Amino acid sequence: MPSIALLYDHPRWEEKAILQALKDIGADAKLLHVETTPLRIGEPCCPIDLALERSVSFSNAVATAFAVESWGVRVLNPGTVIYLAGDKVATLSLLASHRVPVPETTVLSGSNRINGSLPPGPPWVVKPVIGSWGRMVARARDLEELEQLLSYKEAARGLYSRIHLVQEYIEKPGRDIRVFTLGDRVVAAIYRVSSHWITNTSRGARAEPAPVTGEIEDLALRAAEALGGGFLGVDLLEDPERGLLVNEVNAVPEFKNTVRVTGVRVHMEVARYAVEEARR
Ligand SMILES: Nc1ncnc2c1ncn2[C@@H]1O[C@H](COP(=O)(O)OP(=O)(O)O)[C@@H](O)[C@H]1O
Ligand SMILES: [Mg+2]
Repeated sequence: MPSIALLYDHPRWEEKAILQALKDIGADAKLLHVETTPLRIGEPCCPIDLALERSVSFSNAVATAFAVESWGVRVLNPGTVIYLAGDKVATLSLLASHRVPVPETTVLSGSNRINGSLPPGPPWVVKPVIGSWGRMVARARDLEELEQLLSYKEAARGLYSRIHLVQEYIEKPGRDIRVFTLGDRVVAAIYRVSSHWITNTSRGARAEPAPVTGEIEDLALRAAEALGGGFLGVDLLEDPERGLLVNEVNAVPEFKNTVRVTGVRVHMEVARYAVEEARR
């Protein structure tokens, strides 16, 4: 049986479930706590056939996936995929270049900002280039609010504080769709239902099972392929006129609520896939 390392920082339900699933199928599972284990570039810490990157922190996930890849070990997901999925400008640009439909989005840099062409609106959605759980995602009802939001954003210091991602607001039906892809298939999908327009479950949205229609499957797999594949959470928005659009892709997705409402044992699917990939 292959030896599989689980890279983690703050273990959640998901990491515990994957570890148990790896043990249940007889894999040699190793835990690697990235915040207490120095990783030497090019020098493996131990014999490993494959690693699963499950760090919650984006910087931990990117850095440790790359470091482990330097040992000649495959990491699920690879550092490049985690990086690209974590950066919304990179993700949207890659998706668009692969002809995957996304909300109309403008990237504004520093002072030239509002003079650039804005997407349809108001309202507009402003979100950080790197971020998750719906944090700092905001909606501007007019140009004045938009200008104000951007100036607040610029007051914060950070790598991307002067790069603004301004998006059209999609009039979705009180929910979005989270689709889990694993290699070339979809394992589960849920609706995230909320009375608030921000539908992250961490912000109180309710998970409900969603049917995996041919259209959902096709679009999620195209998005996953554009990002480089692996185990991904692809988020779709339903536009009343254009149909499904891809909002973002998550490369270390949480799936506890998905297991609860769909009955699909996502952790077991991930463990089996990791073992198959480690043997290839
Ligand atoms: N352009 C948009 N139109 C309508 N709703 C949006 C739009 N962008 C984001 N949202 C809502 O806000 C939530 C959080 O935005 P998202 O881009 O997914 O950032 P995060 O990475 O923080 O989850 C989404 O799940 C969706 O419900
Ligand atoms: Mg999201």
